[in-house]
Amino acid sequence: MKQAIIIGASSGIGWELGVQLAAKGYQLGLMARRDKCLEKLADSLPGTHFIQTTDVANAEQAQEELNDLIERMGDVELIIVNSGVGSKEKRLDWIIEREMIDVNIRGFAAMSLVAMNYFVKRGDGHLAGVSSAAAHFSGGLTLTYNASKAFASNYLNGMRSRAARSKLPITVTTIEPGFVETPMVEGRPVWMATVEKAVTQMVAGLMKKRDHIYITRRWVLVVRLLQIIPDWLIRKFI
Ligand SMILES: NC(=O)c1ccc[n+]([C@@H]2O[C@H](COP(=O)([O-])OP(=O)(O)OC[C@H]3O[C@@H](n4cnc5c(N)ncnc54)[C@H](OP(=O)(O)O)[C@@H]3O)[C@@H](O)[C@H]2O)c1
Repeated sequence: MKQAIIIGASSGIGWELGVQLAAKGYQLGLMARRDKCLEKLADSLPGTHFIQTTDVANAEQAQEELNDLIERMGDVELIIVNSGVGSKEKRLDWIIEREMIDVNIRGFAAMSLVAMNYFVKRGDGHLAGVSSAAAHFSGGLTLTYNASKAFASNYLNGMRSRAARSKLPITVTTIEPGFVETPMVEGRPVWMATVEKAVTQMVAGLMKKRDHIYITRRWVLVVRLLQIIPDWLIRKFI
């Protein structure tokens, strides 16, 4: 049986990844802090699945928990690092900024590193990380979130180079959504995709072992545009 782990599976994109991967016959390892939500998801899916409570902000402990889960499951071929936090706060508040750094940077790197080392040992595998289109620009309102996602996308590029150098069949996928309708997003921004549509596109890209997946596909245009628009013009809007 194919096995996959989703880190950040208790709501939004991670929850829907669980639903759609289970429908494709995957046995899942579900990780996040809210164990009740993970249990609810596991109970709603066909088949039996594994649950591991974890807080990726406690990076070293979370690494142990991921290693334990891999050992309990047996032979995991896909690990998706989806856990992430944003902020709706307009003030610059260190406690909030620090949480984004702890989860989106330290936690992200810690989990990706365990996954890569495991796949090298296994001789094969697929690491996917959920970054954001926000990785490609900065703005005064969400500066730490954007910077943390720039880290995630850049880090995964580096992991892809390591995978290529290893000569092993290890795939690294960078997922960069624009706006997806989940508890993380406030209001109705432009080009907001439903979580079902966004995850259908993600799963299709994962099954094709793509290097990059833009969600929805039209966001690739935004990313390309942002690369050529001067900073002074971007600053007028965000
Ligand atoms: N929605 C969008 O428009 C959008 C756009 C671009 C990128 N993204 C990215 O997509 C990913 C999923 O976000 P979402 O929109 O689905 O939001 P969400 O519904 O808030 O889901 C976030 C997930 O991350 C987990 N998480 C947060 N902090 C954690 C921690 N310290 N330890 C372990 N797990 C933690 C949450 O679980 P617990 O709270 O139970 O721990 C939850 O499962 C994030 O990385 C986000 O940055 C979202």
